[in-house]
Amino acid sequence: MRKPVIAGNWKMNKRVSEAVALVREIKKAGSIPQNVEVVVCPPFVSLSEVAKELKGSNIKLGAQNMHWEKSGAYTGEISPVMLKEIGCEYVIIGHSERRNYFCEDDAMVNQKVLSALIHGLKPIICVGENIDQRDRGETEVFVSGQVKKAVEGVEKDQAEDLVIAYEPIWAIGTGRSADSDEANRVIAMIRKTLEDVFDANIAGEIRIQYGGSVKPDNIREFMEMPEIDGALVGGASLQAESFYKIITYDR
Ligand code: PGA
Repeated sequence: MRKPVIAGNWKMNKRVSEAVALVREIKKAGSIPQNVEVVVCPPFVSLSEVAKELKGSNIKLGAQNMHWEKSGAYTGEISPVMLKEIGCEYVIIGHSERRNYFCEDDAMVNQKVLSALIHGLKPIICVGENIDQRDRGETEVFVSGQVKKAVEGVEKDQAEDLVIAYEPIWAIGTGRSADSDEANRVIAMIRKTLEDVFDANIAGEIRIQYGGSVKPDNIREFMEMPEIDGALVGGASLQAESFYKIITYDR
């Protein structure tokens, strides 16, 4: 059985003090559910402090990006071993904002995925089409191509640590989420792609999230879909109340 993952992607929001305060509020909101894995992904500079706050809770820590090398002359970059040491379990890779604003291509995404797995981090690999691709009916071809390139070279025995986030670009930060049926259909297609790359058993274990304008009032319809294994939440993860409502969608 796949345990859903609901992850908060804080993007470039919250100073360190605010990040710590947000985690405290989430913990104060009530018990953290056991039926979903809950992850928060603050900016790099807050990871250590947030990690301290998370000790003893079952909220997991994730980063928003990483470099693929362990160390070296890469000014401004952060390595997987650094993330691992401070307690990250997850790392978001290839978010559309990284692809669009920071020129990350499929080859870089693939190097990061392979490196994350080698260093014991679970990559949350973001894929998704833009509005023009959607209008032209290219969603499936484009998204399955992104998935194949991202997981190239991943060994079968590593594949269970992969998480894929299907995030249609037109739904991110727009308040206009995908239809849950449509998201389920694309996610089923992603699973079929993973089946072709690995095998049906492995594809059946890989968690695939939906992301894009997830809110307390629409999380349930996504979680009820058979192929959708959680959510990557941006804006609505920045307030404790809305994030807590999302992670406790079934209460
Ligand atoms: P959003 O962002 O929930 O604000 O649409 C999602 C994401 O970019 O991961």
